[in-house]
This record gives sequence, C-alpha cells and structure tokens, in this order.
Amino acid sequence: MDITFLLNGESVELRDVSPTVTLLDWLRNDCGLTGTKEGCNEGDCGACTVMVQDQDGNRALNACILFLPQLNGKSIRTVEGLASPTGDLHPVQQAMIDHHGSQCGFCTPGFVASMATAHLNGDTDHATALAGNLCRCTGYAPILRAAKAAESLPAPAHLSDFILPEILAGGVGGSQPPTGDTVQPETADELAAWYAAHPQATLIAGATDVGLWVTKQLRDLPQVAFLNRCADLQQIAETDDTLTIGAGITIARLIPVMDRLHPSLGKMLRRYGSAQVRAAATIGGNIANGSPIGDGPPALIALGATLHLRHGDTRRQIPLQDFFLEYGKQDRAPGEFVDSVSIPKQPDRLKCYKLSKRFDQDISAVCGCFNITVTDGTVTDARIAFGGMAGIPKRATHVETALIGQPWTEDTIAATWDAWAQDFTPMSDMRASTQYRQETARNMLSRYFLDDLGADVSVQEVRA
Ligand SMILES: Cc1cc2nc3c(=O)[nH]c(=O)nc-3n(C[C@H](O)[C@H](O)[C@H](O)COP(=O)(O)OP(=O)(O)OC[C@H]3O[C@@H](n4cnc5c(N)ncnc54)[C@H](O)[C@@H]3O)c2cc1C
Ligand code: FES
Ligand code: FES
Repeated sequence: MDITFLLNGESVELRDVSPTVTLLDWLRNDCGLTGTKEGCNEGDCGACTVMVQDQDGNRALNACILFLPQLNGKSIRTVEGLASPTGDLHPVQQAMIDHHGSQCGFCTPGFVASMATAHLNGDTDHATALAGNLCRCTGYAPILRAAKAAESLPAPAHLSDFILPEILAGGVGGSQPPTGDTVQPETADELAAWYAAHPQATLIAGATDVGLWVTKQLRDLPQVAFLNRCADLQQIAETDDTLTIGAGITIARLIPVMDRLHPSLGKMLRRYGSAQVRAAATIGGNIANGSPIGDGPPALIALGATLHLRHGDTRRQIPLQDFFLEYGKQDRAPGEFVDSVSIPKQPDRLKCYKLSKRFDQDISAVCGCFNITVTDGTVTDARIAFGGMAGIPKRATHVETALIGQPWTEDTIAATWDAWAQDFTPMSDMRASTQYRQETARNMLSRYFLDDLGADVSVQEVRA
C-alpha cells in the first residue's frame, strides 16, 4: 500500500510498502537515522522510542513494533528531529546534559523521545512516563532530575506548530479503496466486506502482539488489514445504561473513562505495559488475542461485559466470558472481527488487583477482579474473574455461589476455601507456582473484603 507521513517535519511518500517493515528497521536501514536504537525488539526496553503526532495528540511509541502503514497520515519525530532547525537543543536534551542523565548513551535517544513527548503533553508524572525506558548504567535519579528541570521550559515551536492535514493532503496515502492483500479500511463496513472475503488475513490494531510475531517469530503475514484508520472502531458511546467501547480504543484512551466510572480499573490500567504500550495497544486486541493473562478481560467480565462481533453484515453479541473457550481458542469465526465491547452502567463496586513481579511494565502472574454487591450486610450478587488462574480468563463461579446469600463477614470469606479448588487448578510457570497462585487468589478476596471496610490495603500499589 501507499503511505504519506512527516518525518522530522519533512513529507515522505512511500509506494507499495511491505506491511511488516517496522519503523525502526526503516529508520535505521533506509534513512540512516541510527539515533533510534534497537534493544529488545519486542516493546520492553524503550530504546527505539519515537514521538508520533496526529490530530489526537502526541504519543511516545516503540518503533520496533510499529509497522510502517500504521504511520500513514501521522508525523514522526526521532531523536534527530527534536532540536530546533537552528540547532538549539530541546529543553529535555539540555537538561540531560546538565544533570548527567547519560553515560553509555544507548538508552538516551529513547529516554529523550519519551521525555519530549511528556514535556509537550504537560505530563509531569515522570516515573510513569519513563517506566517503559530502561537504563542499565546511568541510573534513573539523574534522568528524573533532568525531566523535572525541563518541566517549566516552553516546548520548541517546531514540535507544536505543524499543520499535519494540510501537509499530508496531497500525499499518496489518503483514503485508498480496500482492495488487494494489504488494506487500511476507513469504516467498519469496508473492513467487514474485505475481511469476509479474506478470512485468513491478519488484523493488526496496535501491533503490540502482532509486532512480536514478526520481530521474534519471523512470521510472514501475506494478507493484512490495519485497523488504525477505521474510525467506527475508535468510538466510545455512553448512555444512561451502557458504556460501549470500540475495539480500536487504546488502553491510554480507556484510562480516563475508567477513572470516572471504575477507578480501580483505571488505576490498574496504569500498570499495563508502559506508556508506549498503552498508547498503542487496543482493547479489541487485548480481547481477541485470547491471552489467559491479559488484564482487560477479567475486569470486563467482572463488570458483566458483552462482546459485539461482526462478520460481513451479520452482527452478534455474546457475554464476554463465553468468548474464551479454551487456551488458544475463542468463539470467533474466520472473517469475523471484534467490533466493540459494552458494559452495563452500575454502581462502582469493582476492585482490580494485579500481581506481577515488577510494578511497571510486567505481565500479570495473577489478576483478580471483584465486583460484589452487599445489601444490608448480605451478599446479593458476585462477579469475580481472574487472569493467570486457568488457560483462559475465567470466572470464579463456585466462589461466587458460596458467597451469594451469605453475610458479608470474614467467616463467609473463610468458608469459600474449598470452592477455590473447584474453580481453579492453575499451572506453575516462570511467573508463579500453582500453590502461590491458589493462595494469592484466595488472599485477594480477603483484600477485597478489607478494602470494602475501608482498611488501607494499598501497600503493594506504591512504586518501589
Ligand atoms: C512490552 C509489552 C507489555 C505488555 N504488557 C501488557 C500488560 O501489562 N497487560 C496486558 O494485558 N497485555 C500486555 N501486553 C500485551 C498486549 O499489549 C495486549 O495483548 C494488547 O492489548 C494487544 O492489542 P493490540 O491492539 O496491540 O493488538 P494486535 O497486536 O494488533 O493484535 C493482537 C491480536 O488480536 C487480533 N485483533 C486485533 N484487533 C482485533 C479486532 N478488532 N477483531 C478481531 N481480532 C483483532 C489480531 O489479529 C491479533 O491476533 C504487553 C505487550 C508488550 C509488547
Ligand atoms: S527495541 Fe526495546 S522497545 Fe523497541
Ligand atoms: S546510559 Fe547506558 S543504558 Fe542508559
């Protein structure tokens, strides 16, 4: 397919782009822009971070798991394009020098790209903004000091005063009919028609999973639909009764919505990967990949979510929990895609507990989500769902049954002991043993109980 984008302020047009060339490889191999580094090549280290700008704002993204067509119609700033055209360093670059924020320098371009993006967004939560950037020799204190020092300095004009639509209007990458083996549909109707006719194709949303299929598994993807320009999938609709989240909504966009409706989920989503991952990963991809350790599905199941699927002109909806059939198998036909997920509006009783070896940038060992209703001291409803406890995201139905109708007391919690074993026989793996997972899941219910009483159970949620 043909694409147009801005690279460090200059318009670039590429024809017949391969769908699986990463931005990182193209920058380094084709453009000689070797400031952007390759570390892990799987979205974990941030050495490849670039700033991507479009009408929706400024995002730091990992270039190693971004495919070129995902950049169509956007503006990219690499470390080479942060200083002003007259050569003045960006305030965060100068601050890194002043505060000795770099030693070997390998991580520095990625840090600087993340810092410049946060700076442009007025984001002063530097520890969170930089959690996806690893440094192995300087240490983080000087880098955080540099980010702090640059806070009050104005952003260089060339980063904010660009006129993206006008510059791109004449380019080759505008609206293209979805024909051929690589497409970028602009509407759900276009996507539905093309995917029904190409049911073996790969859908690519944020590419935080699919990117690794290419960089780590060296897979070929002969037929691809990129979803990032499909406006119908990028909608959040809210009525008095229902919140409907389009499949293409990123985790970063979901956070403020959940902060308002279910703050515990908003808080947990801040520990989803890193800023770079949250800015790319979509809720549709998080569901469709069927991972047993994804953080979105357990919370959505606990909220009673409904999944909306579409194949051609046929639409259907199922309870989200029924989508996950067994490990690696979901209730989705070839050519069918996730359109959206909806949750009923409800009083907030949700608590989400993510247990992982690191606070940031880590996949859950166990993720427990609890939504228990207590009326006049008695449990009247309970929806509890876990990631990391089975081959799929799964409800704790026996535990729920053991709770409903019982007084909301410690004795009732203790009496659920046997029900846990009926619900889950988790595996042992590098993240946690079977026994650890079983104990920790039970303990999470006690934590919910204490949380509900207003006890301070937040000790594990503080960044070390
Ligand atoms: C460094 C790193 C950290 C991570 N940390 C976390 C974490 O903390 N918690 C967590 O849960 N996950 C984490 N992940 C996993 C990943 O971010 C998620 O699974 C993500 O939500 C996938 O979304 P995506 O848009 O990037 O999907 P993609 O990679 O684009 O696609 C994933 C799968 O879903 C399919 N797909 C995408 N959209 C649709 C659709 N609308 N309909 C049908 N199929 C579709 C694709 O074909 C593919 O099979 C991490 C990943 C990385 C690389
Ligand atoms: S090279 Fe490590 S995140 Fe891209
Ligand atoms: S300065 Fe060497 S890895 Fe950060």
